[in-house]
Amino acid sequence: MLARRKRILVTGGAGFLGSHLCERLVSAGNEVLCVDNFYTGARDNLAGLLSNQQFEVIRHDITFPLYVEVDEIFNLACPASPIHYQYDPVQTTKTSVHGSINMLGLAKRIRAKILQASTSEVYGDPEIHPQDETYWGRVNPIGPRSCYDEGKRCAETLFFDYRRQHNLSIKVARIFNTYGPRMRPYDGRVISNFIVQALTNQPITIYGDGQQTRSFCYVDDLIDGLVRLMNTRDDVVGPMNLGNPAEITMLELAEMVVDLTGSRSAIEFKPLPIDDPKQRQPNIKLAKDSLGWLPSLSLRDGLDKTIAYFESLMIAQRVEATK
Ligand SMILES: NC(=O)c1ccc[n+]([C@@H]2O[C@H](COP(=O)([O-])OP(=O)(O)OC[C@H]3O[C@@H](n4cnc5c(N)ncnc54)[C@H](O)[C@@H]3O)[C@@H](O)[C@H]2O)c1
Repeated sequence: MLARRKRILVTGGAGFLGSHLCERLVSAGNEVLCVDNFYTGARDNLAGLLSNQQFEVIRHDITFPLYVEVDEIFNLACPASPIHYQYDPVQTTKTSVHGSINMLGLAKRIRAKILQASTSEVYGDPEIHPQDETYWGRVNPIGPRSCYDEGKRCAETLFFDYRRQHNLSIKVARIFNTYGPRMRPYDGRVISNFIVQALTNQPITIYGDGQQTRSFCYVDDLIDGLVRLMNTRDDVVGPMNLGNPAEITMLELAEMVVDLTGSRSAIEFKPLPIDDPKQRQPNIKLAKDSLGWLPSLSLRDGLDKTIAYFESLMIAQRVEATK
């Protein structure tokens, strides 16, 4: 029997992850409604979808109510890079808190299943390593990152209260650092920073001594995890870590990017910003057991694809500048 075509709302659908998710859902035969206020997202990210009959975009800020009819909601709207979420911290908290209340209210009215894009930032600067979902985190409630971290924590609370109070079908994914084509070149995230610096032969800036570690998941793997989580039975709710446990120091990452780009960049060390976590690595046993999910692309291969994307962006910008 053919699966019924679903109507799916993706908030933040014009962003980095959202645009890949919209593509994946449309190519699986669904009707997708993308809602975005274009704060960090861009129409260009949706270029391959705009003429598709199964795809629609609405410019809308989710801190205001929305009335649409859908079967599922992926709630991704929220700026994800520190530069962007710290630019207007009150709006960042509103997007996570008021935005979640609006999307949960919508899901309740139309009895839709709803998934929240939460984050590893709910663990803050963790005392345990790697982090599993039972860890409650160590988050500064009043620092410059708190608008994002605490906003996302409150969103998780709201999701679980809507489930307890209104029996809503919810899923909460805790996403760890993800990278790939359509990241913004100047968003201050480490992978985009290093690639842009390497491609322009600028010094590669490492904050601290470069021994702090991160783990990076390629975007296609992450999207696969989100879709699998949405398609689980009602009793699988999370929170569920989604990320790649392969850990790398910032110094090793810088050296890998220099190697892959053939750059002449030198490495430069700068002071560590406030509240920067020293280590971040997901324990993904829960996702492995309940979704049969594991990230498959190696960091080298993923970086190759990302570097190719940034190179094409820079060529397009140079062509534009000569017009
Ligand atoms: N990329 C990662 O590594 C990562 C890690 C953890 C969690 N996440 C979460 O995944 C989601 C997507 O992240 P991303 O990397 O694609 O970021 P992004 O900034 O590229 O995308 C966010 C999108 O949300 C839109 N948006 C922001 N505020 C909005 C509002 N009030 N109303 C409507 N649209 C709004 C932006 O315009 C943008 O298109 C975010 O919720 C983020 O917190 C991402």
